[in-house]
Amino acid sequence: MKNINGENKGQVVERRTVLKILIAGLNVLIAVILAVPGAGYIMTPLLRKESQTWLKIGKTTAVPSGSFTKEIFRFISSSGYVREEKKDFVWMRREDSGEFTAFSPKCTHMGCNVSWNVSANRFECPCHGGMYDEYGNVISGPPPRALDRYPTKIENDTIYLKKAES
Ligand code: FES
Repeated sequence: MKNINGENKGQVVERRTVLKILIAGLNVLIAVILAVPGAGYIMTPLLRKESQTWLKIGKTTAVPSGSFTKEIFRFISSSGYVREEKKDFVWMRREDSGEFTAFSPKCTHMGCNVSWNVSANRFECPCHGGMYDEYGNVISGPPPRALDRYPTKIENDTIYLKKAES
C-alpha cells in the first residue's frame, strides 16, 4: 500500500526509525560536548598532584645551635577546592657546620606532637612514651621509624624549609 507520496508503509516506518536514531545520537553528542568541560572543571582540583614548596622560616640568627627550638611557619593548604592558610611548626637546630636540621614534630607512631627534652637531649612523645634521639632516630617505645626530616636552605640569611604541600 502506498501513501500520497507514493511510498510504501514499510519505507515510512524505516525512515522514522532512522530519524529517531539520528536525533538520539545528536542528543548524546551535545550532552557529551557540554559535559566534558564541566567534568574537567570539577575534577581538576581533585586530581591536582601534591607539590613541594619552600617555606620561609625566619632569620638564621633566630635559631640557636646546640638545642632544638620550636619554629612556627605558615603555609597554604589545598584540599580539593579549599585553599587556606595554616600554621605548623618544626623542631629546628643550627649545626656546627652552619646548616640547619629540621624535624617534623609528628610522632611516627600515631602522629602526636613530640617535645624536645633539653636535659635528656631527646624528643619525647606524650601519647605512648615514644622517644627519639637528637638525630630523630627511635630510641624506645612504639614508633616504627625515625622522625621525618625536612630539607632546609639558606638564602640572604633566611632559612627556608621544603615541605610537601597538602
Ligand atoms: S603517638 Fe607517639 S608513641 Fe604513640
